[in-house]
Amino acid sequence: MKHLVDLDDFSLEEVESILNKAIYIKSNMSKFSNAMSKKIIATLFYEPSTRTQMSFQTAMIKLGGQVIGFDNPTNSSIAKGEDLKDTIKIISEYADIIAIRHNLEGAARAAACFSSCPVINAGDGGHLHPTQTLTDLLTIKETKSSFSNLTFGFCGDLKHGRTVHSLVKMLLRYKNNKFIFISTDQLKIPDYIKKIIIASKNQFEESCSLENSIDKLDILYMTRIQKERFKFEKTAFSAQKNFFKLKKNTLKKAKSDMLILHPLPRVDEIDFEVDSDPRAAYFRQAANGVFARMALITHVLSAPNVENFPTVTINKCCCNDRCVTNFEKYLPKRFIKNKESYFCHYCSQKLNI
Ligand code: CP
Repeated sequence: MKHLVDLDDFSLEEVESILNKAIYIKSNMSKFSNAMSKKIIATLFYEPSTRTQMSFQTAMIKLGGQVIGFDNPTNSSIAKGEDLKDTIKIISEYADIIAIRHNLEGAARAAACFSSCPVINAGDGGHLHPTQTLTDLLTIKETKSSFSNLTFGFCGDLKHGRTVHSLVKMLLRYKNNKFIFISTDQLKIPDYIKKIIIASKNQFEESCSLENSIDKLDILYMTRIQKERFKFEKTAFSAQKNFFKLKKNTLKKAKSDMLILHPLPRVDEIDFEVDSDPRAAYFRQAANGVFARMALITHVLSAPNVENFPTVTINKCCCNDRCVTNFEKYLPKRFIKNKESYFCHYCSQKLNI
């Protein structure tokens, strides 16, 4: 199956072809109104969502297809104890494509292992959110001439921000980008992302001040503090609130063409007065989610089958306590070998051996 769990599953040419198609769809909607007629998408949302869930549903409806699914697992047989494997095996016989959001890291990869139709990761815990990345790229592409030679500032909860992790990984596939990670000490970008940046010979720096960094940025990517992830944390959520707030005053030091992105929802990290600034692109970014997902659905449902990842089975538990393998115990303990290290096939965590 052609799944999208991580954008690394797609070649650069495929990603760019999806973005070009999204731009074409945006101004030629009527040409696609029957493109997916008789096709069904199942949107399985184990975690709350407004944009991702409804933009997938809107995308399929605008393509002439139909939608099934749930937005709360307690309204499904999951409440009776049905596991992820059986849920996916059944629903993949009903639908042509599945979009799944889950609170556990690696859950989308696990779902793909048992699905008879393509699976799209609509966000797995604090791990990845590849369709948000397509939406982000589409918004950048409409404004900047390329995805290279840019300085990106990521601000907020960089530890749990799956949209940040996915976007940074994707931007490393382009040339000469620089990253400034603005966060508190407790919510820094994970080490595995820093290691990928170092290995790719790109530059990054860490900062604790938005005011001191903003003048260098071509793109500012704001994020909220992810309250729902703190049950696994030693740090209290209340201690992390209100550190960073983008205000009109802060923007005085920014470049006149700096793009302000946010995956949304916004809580209080961008002042309402910023919304009318021409650099604020976050509502257009959310609207672009429909076009990016329309292009993705047509791509996945017309793509040929691809080979599975080469993985090895090792009888060790993943050391990430948020990993799906630590909850869905039947999952095979699969790892991907990279040089002398092994990484969890589901959540990307390095294995300690
Ligand atoms: N950006 C995003 O994932 O928003 P939702 O949680 O509303 O889907």
